[in-house]
Amino acid sequence: MTVMEDASMNTNLHAAFKREIARIKSGLQRIDLADTNARQGLARRYEFFSQSLHHHHQGEDRYLTGTVRSSADPAEVEVLDQMESEHQTMLATLNLLDEQFTSLSAESDKAAISDNFDLLLSSLSQHCDHEEAVGVPIVQKYLTEDAYKEFMQYNRKAPNASLVFPWVCDGADPAVASQTWGVLPGPVRLIIKPMMSRKYQRFTADCGV
Ligand SMILES: [Fe+2]
Ligand SMILES: [Fe+2]
Repeated sequence: MTVMEDASMNTNLHAAFKREIARIKSGLQRIDLADTNARQGLARRYEFFSQSLHHHHQGEDRYLTGTVRSSADPAEVEVLDQMESEHQTMLATLNLLDEQFTSLSAESDKAAISDNFDLLLSSLSQHCDHEEAVGVPIVQKYLTEDAYKEFMQYNRKAPNASLVFPWVCDGADPAVASQTWGVLPGPVRLIIKPMMSRKYQRFTADCGV
């Protein structure tokens, strides 16, 4: 018996992060960085991605691996350590990208930014596979109801939380999209799905990516 029976949101978020890297990378190739509107739109889209990825990893470290550590056996603690150290590896690349996007200008080196996205995608892909295969089952084994509630509360307070659901569904298979919306209780979904979807469409149009 686990308090986190359904870990599909984690898996679907991972896929969305990977798609987003490809989306921003292709946007970067397409736009003229001397065009202020296009440049600011891309930077805004990147900011959403970066904040969401930072938030995802901090939440896992703090509320998931961080809280189950004291119950885990030595072999499981080793896996939890690997999860946190993989987050740190990605943080180093994400920080470089954060700097590149904060100072994005007509003179920015598109190839250097793309190289960092490739590096991030490679470590993110390895980490997601690793976490889904062996990290999540350890968390499911030991997570307490209180820690899970705090984790869910933390996710609801994510920066741009209202964009997350439609973004996770953007480019996903219809079955994944319905699974994603399906984690919300029906009456809540009925009200917020159209609201969030409209907001995400506006955000996408404003960013131009
Ligand atoms: Fe994750
Ligand atoms: Fe993770």
